[in-house]
Amino acid sequence: MLKAEYKTRSLVPQDVIEAVSFEQPELKEGQVLLEMLAAPINPSDVLTLTGQYGILPPLPAIGGNEGVAKVVEHGLNVSSPDIGQTVLIPISLGSWSSHIVADAKALISLPNGVDPIQMSMITINPPTASLMLSEFVDLQKGDWVIQNAANSGVGSYLIKLAKLRGFRTVNVVRRESLIEPLLTAGADVVLVDGIIDGLNLAKRVKAATNSADIKLGIDAVGGNATDRLGETLCDGATLVNYGAMSGEPCSIAPTLIIFKDITVRGFWLAKWFKTSTPEQQKEVFGTIIGLIVTGKLSAPIHATYPIKDIKQAVAEAASGKRNGKVVMVKE
Ligand SMILES: NC(=O)c1ccc[n+]([C@@H]2O[C@H](COP(=O)([O-])OP(=O)(O)OC[C@H]3O[C@@H](n4cnc5c(N)ncnc54)[C@H](OP(=O)(O)O)[C@@H]3O)[C@@H](O)[C@H]2O)c1
Repeated sequence: MLKAEYKTRSLVPQDVIEAVSFEQPELKEGQVLLEMLAAPINPSDVLTLTGQYGILPPLPAIGGNEGVAKVVEHGLNVSSPDIGQTVLIPISLGSWSSHIVADAKALISLPNGVDPIQMSMITINPPTASLMLSEFVDLQKGDWVIQNAANSGVGSYLIKLAKLRGFRTVNVVRRESLIEPLLTAGADVVLVDGIIDGLNLAKRVKAATNSADIKLGIDAVGGNATDRLGETLCDGATLVNYGAMSGEPCSIAPTLIIFKDITVRGFWLAKWFKTSTPEQQKEVFGTIIGLIVTGKLSAPIHATYPIKDIKQAVAEAASGKRNGKVVMVKE
């Protein structure tokens, strides 16, 4: 039994996280012991280790935020979920651990026998993609959306969710090798960011979409990438920033704000969890779980690691140009 613990924070995240022994506590009434099946390493987990995220747990802490597990032991007065049942771990428990103690009532049962790696990513990225498509602009079938970091976990879900809703996507990446895989995954247009053959992104987007009006831009990068996305949008459009992969402040030309009346908004799922009703959450998650369980929604996987290799896993997750998520799995 191992858990991935950190006692300090550092800009080199793999330096502070280590696999240590998980001492099984006595279960209290209403608690269950879970065996972790899969738990991804998200950029927010890395930023939590480096101390750069919006919420930081007190130290020492166990890394990881979301994942799926199997119930292996009941505490007193627990009748469900059954032993052997696959469940979604509540966020903020520390999911990079071979075993986790949780309140039985906080668990959401998932179907047994479905790929735990895909199910482990249900809680954060799919609702983020889904909500950004619905919360800011009233998109209609056939409308275009543009996003950068389009090969990211969120980006991959957004491509598929947009297609299911009848929207068309322009997907901006920073590597040419991603064009084919994203087109195969359902993207309508995939373009490499920056100036290519003397043409800036906005000119190439215009050519690829037949000068369509793009009312929604979705930015995970920040820095000058925000401005490049803003230039592709139509008058009165909304640009939503939800990530800062460049590590730089969003930059946007005043001309876009003044002459095109572009509105810049932010999205944070943690805030949505606080402000949405249980019914709204049930609706969003019900749809997402259904799509993931039936294989209609998925994200690419770069590598899997057991907890004992947490340092290597975090180092890999913190590096760019991956082919998908790094996921911690049961050994
Ligand atoms: N606001 C929210 O509620 C919320 C929720 C979920 C996620 N997020 C944020 O969304 C972003 C994506 O998360 P994810 O889990 O989908 O990420 P991910 O799967 O780990 O993918 C990371 C993405 O960022 C790109 N990238 C990395 N460094 C970059 C740079 N310097 N310039 C441009 N692109 C860069 C990568 O491109 P390459 O493959 O080319 O390296 C890849 O597309 C993160 O910033 C995350 O914190 C926010």
